[in-house]
Amino acid sequence: MNAASSASASQRHRSYYHLADSTITNHACQGLACFVARHAQATKWEAISAQQPHMYCLGKCFAAPACGTDTARPHMAIDAPNGIVLSRLVQGGARTLTEYTATEGYAALTDWLRRPPAEILDEIEKSSLRGRGGAGFPTAKKWRAVAAQNAQPKYVIANADEGDPGAYIDRFILEDDPHAVIEACILAGYAVGANKGTVYLRKEYPDALRILTAAIAEARDAGFLGANVAGTGFAFDLDVFSGQGSYVCGEETALLNSMEGVPPMVRPRPPYPTEHGLFGQPTLVNNVETLANIPWILRQGGAAYHALGFSRSRGTKVVSLNSLFHRPGLYEVEFGVPVRHIVEELGGGLRTGTIQGVIIGGPLAGVLPPSLFDTPLGFDELQQVGASVGHGGVIAFDERTSLPELMQHVFAFAAEESCGKCTPCRIGSRTVEEVFQRALNAGPASRDDQAFVADIVSALHATSLCGLGTGLADFALSALKHYPKEVAHAFRQD
Ligand SMILES: Cc1cc2nc3c(=O)[nH]c(=O)nc-3n(C[C@H](O)[C@H](O)[C@H](O)COP(=O)(O)O)c2cc1C
Ligand code: SF4
Repeated sequence: MNAASSASASQRHRSYYHLADSTITNHACQGLACFVARHAQATKWEAISAQQPHMYCLGKCFAAPACGTDTARPHMAIDAPNGIVLSRLVQGGARTLTEYTATEGYAALTDWLRRPPAEILDEIEKSSLRGRGGAGFPTAKKWRAVAAQNAQPKYVIANADEGDPGAYIDRFILEDDPHAVIEACILAGYAVGANKGTVYLRKEYPDALRILTAAIAEARDAGFLGANVAGTGFAFDLDVFSGQGSYVCGEETALLNSMEGVPPMVRPRPPYPTEHGLFGQPTLVNNVETLANIPWILRQGGAAYHALGFSRSRGTKVVSLNSLFHRPGLYEVEFGVPVRHIVEELGGGLRTGTIQGVIIGGPLAGVLPPSLFDTPLGFDELQQVGASVGHGGVIAFDERTSLPELMQHVFAFAAEESCGKCTPCRIGSRTVEEVFQRALNAGPASRDDQAFVADIVSALHATSLCGLGTGLADFALSALKHYPKEVAHAFRQD
């Protein structure tokens, strides 16, 4: 490879990583929660927008519009019979080992590490826990798939890339309850037969990196990590891999490529990471919030967890409310509560303006209009109305953000973050963004443009290799279904 081609390859590689050479200190957030809050705090938004560089989502949606230097913390509350994920966070957190062990931390670990791994798998199955990273995949099924592999080494990866604009629960779990994730990784390692774990942590969360790194060192010093975990003879160690500012690296196969040092493009599946993951070895990838439920389930029992929630969505979910609400913040709710309860009773409605809808489960999911706020929070129930639980972001928007503006913003986000493997996602997302941008700048686009947008959305839906492209199509389809007239304003109707 000559110097020129090597330079261009590295250029291409680096373009995925928006923070490769920088810290977040001076960055201005352009995530969806900041975008819809731009009118509410116009002066701040203008100041932030003048700042460079811009990036998507700093995990400060409760204080949006936000920038790297903002230090506010969110309101946190438990609105369920049992607080599981937020139980320590609402008490001020348990960053140190002493604080964690004083609140039942590591209490059941030794006992479980002395029992057969299959008993852990059975307990997780009883809980009916489903992944909180977006897809809602049954956790026990994934753990069993890794446990069934004979190859060694196997790996456990905690996915802390949390790129979904609107959601910020993983950030605060890692900042306030890091040992819960460490304990969960140890238990997961034992259950699936892995001796090595990694937390893939986004660079946008520098406090989480500092706190988690200190917690891992403390756990190792205390014998909870290392060659002989808690004196049980089980060997397990954990490290942190720092992401470089790429949204698509949250997708589990792009994440694996990123860890292997190759461009973070999505891998076709099968084979799944459970069989052929990091460096071709069986790998368990779980979201941080999914993992944060594990120590509680193994202390209180899978049946106690299953008793919470409803239908095929058991346990609790933490929802992240954006700054337009009266009471933005993190709320742990039982699955099954109506979206209206979250919006009106927990969030207290909007501070100003009239709510037009909520973008629920992340921008690559769906928009829910007020007429559907009685839908219960559940994986299947939200899917039936074209939305998704996703990672639990709930971004309300008011009449100062039009549907064409939302479409332009979300398609621009996807175009920026696409890994580029599928043509409709790589090129189509930019094309749709430009159609809406032109309509916003120069007036309604043509009927041909409208038909072209519809074709691209169909192609995204039918051919995308990963949830970025299909989620983008879902977002567009839900906007077209629930707000047909508002979206049509972007196109000439004569
Ligand atoms: C574009 C894209 C981005 C994603 N980002 C994240 C992320 O930041 N964190 C996460 O846990 N899962 C993310 N996911 C989902 C992961 O691919 C994977 O399903 C998840 O980490 C599995 O964990 P779970 O079963 O515990 O949910 C993303 C998926 C896609 C398609
Ligand atoms: S849908 Fe987009 S992000 Fe996903 S694999 Fe295809 S090009 Fe990459």
